Amino acid sequence: MAKVGVWLVGAQGSLASTVVLGARAIARRLATGGGLVTELPELAALPLVSLADLAFGGWDIAPTGLVARARELAADDGAVAESLVTELEADLKSVEMRIRPGFALGGGPATRRRGTLGFLPRGESLAVAVERLGDDLDRFRREDRLDTVVVVNVASTEPPTELSRDHARLDLFRRVIQRDRRALVTPSMVYAYAALERGFPYVNFTPSVGIAVAALQELGLKHHVPFYGSDGKTGETLVKTVLAPMFRYRNLEVLSWEGFNILGGGDGRVLADPRHKRSKIRSKSGVLASALGYAPHSGVGIEYVPSLGNWKTAWDFVHFRGFLGTKMSVQFIWQGCDSILAAPLVLDLVRLTEFALRQGEAGPMTHLACFFKEPLGVSVQSFTDQFRLLTDYVARHMKNGRKSPRAR
Ligand SMILES: NC(=O)c1ccc[n+]([C@@H]2O[C@H](COP(=O)([O-])OP(=O)(O)OC[C@H]3O[C@@H](n4cnc5c(N)ncnc54)[C@H](O)[C@@H]3O)[C@@H](O)[C@H]2O)c1
Repeated sequence: MAKVGVWLVGAQGSLASTVVLGARAIARRLATGGGLVTELPELAALPLVSLADLAFGGWDIAPTGLVARARELAADDGAVAESLVTELEADLKSVEMRIRPGFALGGGPATRRRGTLGFLPRGESLAVAVERLGDDLDRFRREDRLDTVVVVNVASTEPPTELSRDHARLDLFRRVIQRDRRALVTPSMVYAYAALERGFPYVNFTPSVGIAVAALQELGLKHHVPFYGSDGKTGETLVKTVLAPMFRYRNLEVLSWEGFNILGGGDGRVLADPRHKRSKIRSKSGVLASALGYAPHSGVGIEYVPSLGNWKTAWDFVHFRGFLGTKMSVQFIWQGCDSILAAPLVLDLVRLTEFALRQGEAGPMTHLACFFKEPLGVSVQSFTDQFRLLTDYVARHMKNGRKSPRAR
């Protein structure tokens, strides 16, 4: 079976640390695969890479942090057992040693102070940065004797970017890079460009623009690699896309849907800045109109509460109208551990992306829509309908006679 590299953008963050910790814990049989969609019976027929065959590395804007973050997740957040972090410390350290300097310019004000002087190259042009990042991926593949490398963006959310004609076509976007027009480019674009240009698949788990840029999709198609995004669907929005179809199919008119989120951690700190928050509000707000077929009055609030650490609480109030015009309401409270919800999905996406690549598939992996708040090229927002896209994909592969036993 293939040995697959996972290159995490934002490799020292809470989510990245949990991804590495979780994969190594399962590989060493210290944990089981609860929360992994790829362990469902519906997907058992796909010969996916074993978690034990994943090797990790990545980019960040600070020199150290992965091991410390894993310790914080255990000691401060109670998200994972401290004994697990202790047992896997050597594994975590070896991944931390593979973390390379990323690209910070244009990532937004809230990430600026995280960049550690001396770790990131200074005064680098966009073209030089793209080459350096591409070389990191090639070196990782060569030195670890990997069949391929899947690049997954789990870095801090960037503020929204105005897309222009220059982002619409690959030749124009290449000119932007060559002419070093930095105001038009953000780190998530640079990373996607570097990965796709070297023929590596790219997945954007964040609300940052990344693969939403048409020129980058053109690049992925040119090199015949799969890609997808954006913004992992792990909590409040997941519940929204499950509940909204219920109102629709019972002909209950939703009048208002108000959601209020409080969270801590690095993600919460970055989203506390209104410029960064706008990207998250946009990706969380888009689902209702499509899932219901109309847009009710709706608000999404996000507030930073440092003491919550990796935990998030969402309170949603849904006001709806039924028979004879009578108004009623539903409220729910979701309390989730952010990284614990998201990490298995990142591993699922790596396995399914590598599978798609191995099958010679290229372009947007629309069968992965159920993993995202803003699924590229899919307007269906009902979670059940999106999950059917995935099971239909599995069925197609079985029909094509590609069924073979799952490697463990
Ligand atoms: N449930 C979830 O955890 C969840 C769900 C959906 C999306 N996301 C997204 O995943 C991302 C990571 O979340 P987190 O909780 O791990 O946040 P975090 O703050 O703990 O980690 C982010 C990491 O990205 C790094 N970073 C910042 N700018 C960078 C750049 N330009 N290049 C490389 N690295 C950079 C930071 O130094 C940090 O190590 C966020 O964008 C978040 O919105 C998380």
